[in-house]
Amino acid sequence: MTAEIRQTVNRSVLIVGASRGLGEAIVEEYVARGAHAVGTVRGETATPLHEFAARAGDSVEIEQVDIDHPDQIDSLAARLAGRQFDLLFVVAGISLAPMEDIAVQISTQDFSRMMVTNALGVMRAVEALHGLVSPTGTIAVMSSGQGSISDNTQAGFEVYRATKSALNQLMRSYAVRHAEDARAILLMAPGWVKTTLGGPQARLEISDSIPPLVDTVDAQRGIPGLQYLDRNGATIPW
Ligand SMILES: NC(=O)c1ccc[n+]([C@@H]2O[C@H](COP(=O)([O-])OP(=O)(O)OC[C@H]3O[C@@H](n4cnc5c(N)ncnc54)[C@H](OP(=O)(O)O)[C@@H]3O)[C@@H](O)[C@H]2O)c1
Repeated sequence: MTAEIRQTVNRSVLIVGASRGLGEAIVEEYVARGAHAVGTVRGETATPLHEFAARAGDSVEIEQVDIDHPDQIDSLAARLAGRQFDLLFVVAGISLAPMEDIAVQISTQDFSRMMVTNALGVMRAVEALHGLVSPTGTIAVMSSGQGSISDNTQAGFEVYRATKSALNQLMRSYAVRHAEDARAILLMAPGWVKTTLGGPQARLEISDSIPPLVDTVDAQRGIPGLQYLDRNGATIPW
C-alpha cells in the first residue's frame, strides 16, 4: 500500500480472480483509492478477499466464478447485467509446472489446464463481461513479462510463458476486432512477485508491485487501443 494514497479515476472496478494474491491486493488498492470493487472468488470457502470485505464494508462485493467453466462466466454476466464498471481486470491465472521443467515434461492434462485457464478462460471472461465496461473505461488482463517472445533469452517456465504469449495474441485479435473502441485495452505485467504462484524466491513483495501497477492502469484511462505494459508503464516488446 502506498504511503500517500491517491484517488482513482476508476471508481467502479470488477476484478476477476481476486480471492488472494495479486487480484486481492488490486481490490484492496482500489478500495483504498476510493473505488467500489466487485471481486470474484471460485469456491465457497473463506479467502483473504472475504477477510478484507469484512473490514471494508460496502466498498467490496464478492461474486463467484471459475473461468474454466463457460456456464459460470455466463451466469456472472447475467447477475451483473445492467451494472457499469470503469475497469474490468481479469487477473486469474495458474502455473502447474516447476520453473526448470521443459515443456514436454508436463502432462497433457496439465498443459491443457494451464492453457484453458490462462488463455481461453481469460478471453471468455473478457468477451462475456466487456459489455459491462463504460465506453471510456478500461479492459485489462494480467499477462506477464514471461509472455514476451522477444524477451525470452533464458527459457524456464516454458509452458507458463506459452500460455501468456497465447493470451497476448488472443488479446491482440480482440483489439483488432474492436479497433473503433474508445476503451483502453491492457496486457499488464506485474513483475516477479511473492505469491503462491510467484513463489518465495520472487524478487518483489506485493506492496512493491500493485501500487505502481494500479497507477499505470489508471494512467491509461481514455487512451484507446491495446498496450502491453509493465507495472511502471514501460512498453514490453512482443
Ligand atoms: N506472482 C507473480 O510473480 C506473477 C508474475 C506475472 C504474472 N502473474 C499473474 O498474475 C495473476 C495472479 O497471480 P498471483 O501471483 O496472484 O497467483 P496466486 O496467488 O496463485 O492467485 C491466483 C488467483 O487466480 C485465481 N484463479 C486461478 N484459477 C482460476 C479459475 N479457473 N477461475 C477463477 N479464478 C482462478 C485463484 O483463485 P483460487 O483462490 O480459487 O485458487 C487466485 O485468486 C496470474 O494471472 C499470474 O499468471 C503473477
